Amino acid sequence: MSDTAKKPILFSGIQPSGHITLGNYIGALRNFTILESDYNCLFSIVDLHALTVRQDPAGLRRKTVELAALYIAAGLNPEESIIYCQSHVPQHAELAWILNCFTYMGELNRMTQFKDKAQKHKDNINAGLYTYPVLMAADILLYQTDLVPVGADQKQHLEITRDIAERVNAIHKGVFKVPEPYIPKQTAKIMSLTEPERKMSKSDPEDSFIALTDTPETISRKFRRAVTDSDGEIRYDPENKPGVSNLLSILSTLSGEDMDSLTARLSGQGYGKLKDETAQATIETLKPIQERFHQLMADKDYLAKVLTDNAERARYLANKTLRKVYKKLGLYQP
Ligand code: TYM
Repeated sequence: MSDTAKKPILFSGIQPSGHITLGNYIGALRNFTILESDYNCLFSIVDLHALTVRQDPAGLRRKTVELAALYIAAGLNPEESIIYCQSHVPQHAELAWILNCFTYMGELNRMTQFKDKAQKHKDNINAGLYTYPVLMAADILLYQTDLVPVGADQKQHLEITRDIAERVNAIHKGVFKVPEPYIPKQTAKIMSLTEPERKMSKSDPEDSFIALTDTPETISRKFRRAVTDSDGEIRYDPENKPGVSNLLSILSTLSGEDMDSLTARLSGQGYGKLKDETAQATIETLKPIQERFHQLMADKDYLAKVLTDNAERARYLANKTLRKVYKKLGLYQP
């Protein structure tokens, strides 16, 4: 970020939990790589967020390093962008406390992701799960972020982030930049392969998602078994044909062929052809990422250094905002 001081700021994060899926790639990671050169970017591994559901400690550590490797393998540049662990920058948790005092319980009660997760983890509906969007607002506002690329499932969290920022600014002028979401329509919501009315999710059964580290054989098998419909017509119609439309979205995004010409070319063909092309496009996209991922995972010292150095860069920026917030709010700063 050295000689690019005037670029706007981009922030996003991914949780190091479960497998990183093709949904995460198409909805988020891929867009990070497309936007990276036009912004000063921070890409966080949001390990504190992952603690809102129980994690195996060794698994969490491993997944954290793997996600760092995936960020870089997907094409992000850790010399330019700040790729770091959320827990290495204590200012996230500190600002979250402050923002908790500007967030209404009524707002948090409306969060659909909380309702879903509370349903899934009935034995552990903890306060962290409830205030999750406040920590997310802190992540974003800490860096005076302009743009936040995410999938559609995070839209409501972006809205509450903007509301919190505006509320603080209305009382204490000019504290936060109010961020804009970046959620391109076609890639906003990649659906489950087995239940195409639901989003593809890393916490669902294995056959419902493609993991970025799946082998070509596994990818082909999962797509071959993907649920479609019985009318046999290849047409983009997410409402009535969610399975077929999902395959078309994936294929169009990964191959670069626009939806109109893709559907025109495949119309009249069987679903087998669509599944096969989608699998091939996915395999080809993931091949270089997987190769680089395995190289990086063989050099843990390098990954540790990237995360250590970049946490320091993040702390410097985070501290600037946090000091400003403390001062504006009247916390005594001798
Ligand atoms: P997470 O880890 O669940 O997902 C990471 C990113 O992937 C997107 N995504 C999808 N996009 C399209 N189709 C899908 N099926 C799909 N599944 C996931 C998510 O929308 C997300 O962009 N709360 C966030 C992490 C976070 C964050 C932040 C993001 C914490 N702080 C600040 C942005 C800014 C989450 O759990 O994402």
